[in-house]
Amino acid sequence: MTSNGIARQVSPDPCSFIIFGVTGDLTHRLVIPALYNLAAARLLPDDFCVVGITRKAMSREALRDSLMQGLRKHATRSVDDAIADKLLRCVTCIDADPSAPESFDRMAAQLKQREAEHRTAGNRLFYLATPPSAFTPISLQLGRAGLLKQDGGSWRRLVIEKPFGTDLASARRLNAELLRVANEHQIYRIDHYLGKETVQNILVLRFANGMFEPIWNRNHIDHVQITVNETLGVGHRGSFYDATGALRDMVPNHLFQLLSLVAMEPPAHFDAHTVRSEKAQVLAAIQAQTPDEALQNSVRGQYTAGRIGDETIPDYRSAKDVRADSTTETYAALKLTIDNWRWAGVPFYLRTGKALAAKRTEIAIKFKQAPFAMFRDTPIERLSQNYFVIGIEPAEGITLQFNTKVPGPSIAIDGVAMTFLYRDYFKAEPSTGYETLIHDCMIGDNILFQRADSVEAGWRAVMPFIDAWKAAGANGLDFYPADSDGPAASAALLARDGRSWRTPV
Ligand code: BG6
Repeated sequence: MTSNGIARQVSPDPCSFIIFGVTGDLTHRLVIPALYNLAAARLLPDDFCVVGITRKAMSREALRDSLMQGLRKHATRSVDDAIADKLLRCVTCIDADPSAPESFDRMAAQLKQREAEHRTAGNRLFYLATPPSAFTPISLQLGRAGLLKQDGGSWRRLVIEKPFGTDLASARRLNAELLRVANEHQIYRIDHYLGKETVQNILVLRFANGMFEPIWNRNHIDHVQITVNETLGVGHRGSFYDATGALRDMVPNHLFQLLSLVAMEPPAHFDAHTVRSEKAQVLAAIQAQTPDEALQNSVRGQYTAGRIGDETIPDYRSAKDVRADSTTETYAALKLTIDNWRWAGVPFYLRTGKALAAKRTEIAIKFKQAPFAMFRDTPIERLSQNYFVIGIEPAEGITLQFNTKVPGPSIAIDGVAMTFLYRDYFKAEPSTGYETLIHDCMIGDNILFQRADSVEAGWRAVMPFIDAWKAAGANGLDFYPADSDGPAASAALLARDGRSWRTPV
């Protein structure tokens, strides 16, 4: 932080952190390492305990051993034994199964006992680190057993992580089921993109600086590109991925989080209700497309074999648990428009895919060309384009590309870039990306979490593409070799408008 940095730190209340899916991958890889980092930064409350919920009885020693092994493997910094021991000493377990409702009634009594031992004042954070199919059965049982009821001044919160449904109808169903047992402000829907520092910085960049807002609109911006390119293939997630595809996996959640932060109107207050309302509104303003428009304004691709670095990537269709004739897309590109005053006529191009040549997540804002009266001798295509780029991964930073005169007697123009990189200014300990999110759940700040209406608005905006692609079947699915930039049709989507994707650098 710079000498005039502003920091706001709120200490969490005493609480019990109750994890469903405590033996699973998410808990071992991210939740416990994030709790460890919070403990190391003294951001956990003094009166705190972790309760792991297991389907079958498990000894607390076995659970602690397993979590310790996970921590040693996945910690983002070297593990201090004293801090790890203190954290794991407060771990206990309870066995409960949503298909046996009486086990949740028993859990109610057991939790009270743990709360008394650890003086956690009845505050409970239920973290569902489970497959999405378990969200509803667990929440309904928590509700039925009265475990989510907030009384006597204590709070009860429910944390779930994407995917929130697989289409608009299932997202609505899930929201309705959760809202039967908890109020919206008790529900924390995690999109891990909002745990990324640079993503959180978009709001600060736009609204804590006076110079961007006047040009942040259709008068000055030609178009916006949002890129989330990954080098990894589908790996061992074939079964989930083949039923999901790149569009559902990435667009209504991660890419729309980026889009809504870049495109939202300035919120009147920096509070969860106002910020989330503005984000939901901009998603709701994404223009609905007819089936023909959806096909015209989208590209879907699937990777074929190739080599990325030292790794041989097999054809997507030969990956484990993927159907041999699968038409699931591993690459999606969309052209969207936002129907409001700020963005009318400004296309938003989105692309995301797996097994691509380079990992890069960025938002590139392309400004309109200068009127170009003065430098008639310079061919327009030689002028570098004015991009403002928010780099999210791997290099976190901001770049401004502009034209400058090459020193010398004649007027020669060249493009240059001014770059700010986080790592040059701020020394941050490596983190899991979940620390801020978990801390915010504990202090009751929902600003970085998705609200039911924005989840539904996201699905509503992608449904025309999902439906049109389903109806088209294999027609229109393009193939691209692993280690490429994606299907050729993706470049053509922009070329048609006289534009091109920025080459991420
Ligand atoms: C997850 C998707 O939500 O996000 C994965 O299910 C994807 O398929 C991942 O790889 C990307 O996250 P990140 O933080 O690596 O960009």
